[in-house]
Amino acid sequence: MEGNGSKVKEIVNSYGGNRDSLISILQDVQSEYQYLPEDALRHVAAQLQLPVIQVYGVATFFKAFSLEPKGKHIVNVCLGTACHVRSAPSIVDEFERQLGICRGETTKDMEFTLETLNCLGTCALGPVVVVDGKYYGEVTPGKVSKILNEYREAPRDTKHEELEIGS
Ligand code: FES
Repeated sequence: MEGNGSKVKEIVNSYGGNRDSLISILQDVQSEYQYLPEDALRHVAAQLQLPVIQVYGVATFFKAFSLEPKGKHIVNVCLGTACHVRSAPSIVDEFERQLGICRGETTKDMEFTLETLNCLGTCALGPVVVVDGKYYGEVTPGKVSKILNEYREAPRDTKHEELEIGS
C-alpha cells in the first residue's frame, strides 16, 4: 500500500472496516494529517468498498473537514455578533497583517492557518480568539503579536483547553 495507505488502513481497521463509521474514520484521518489528503480519501473508499465520490461527498459536505493542507497552528477569531461589536474585525485585520495572509489561508511556511467562526459560546469574554483549542478572551489588536509569539516554533498541542482572560 502506497502513500498514506498503511495509516489509513490502520484507522479503518480500528473501526472494524464498518462503512457506518465513515465520518469517524474521516475525523481520525484528518487528525492524523490535519486535513484530508486526496490519496487518503481514495484509500478510505477502497478499504470500505465505497465509491470514491461518496467519500468525497461526505468530506466536502461537513465544514469541519478540510481538503486543503492546514498550518501547524489553527487561529480562529470569533466574528459572532457579541465579538463583532467589540471590534473583532480589527483583530482579524491585525492577524492578517502580521501573518501576511487573508482569512481562510495558510502561511507559506505552514505554521499558521487563519479562520473565523461565529460564536464560541463565551460571548461575555469577547472578543474571543482560539488557537489550537486554547481560548483567549478580551483580545485587542495589541495582543495579537503576543498570542502569535506563543506559537511560533511551538509544537501543536490540541489538548489545550485553558481560558486566558485579558492577559
Ligand atoms: S459572539 Fe464570540 S463568543 Fe459569542
